[in-house]
Amino acid sequence: MVNIEVCVGTACYLKGSYHIINRLDELTESNNIADKVNVSSIFCLNNCTNCVSVKFNDDLVSLSMDNIDEFFKTKVIPLAK
Ligand code: FES
Repeated sequence: MVNIEVCVGTACYLKGSYHIINRLDELTESNNIADKVNVSSIFCLNNCTNCVSVKFNDDLVSLSMDNIDEFFKTKVIPLAK
């Protein structure tokens, strides 16, 4: 199982946490890996200046609508298949 926890703390929320969560849900569905990827929310990851902060398994990454598709393609799909 791939675990993706999206920060919904104030700074990340203001930078679009919910767009990130929605896009992750769309991508898991369209790639037929929704049963292998667990997307959830989490509060502040102490990485507020680099948000939207996302805990990806044990790594901390910063996602935006500009890099999320590439992140998903290169990091999430290979682990989920
Ligand atoms: S609010 Fe997201 S890392 Fe602090």
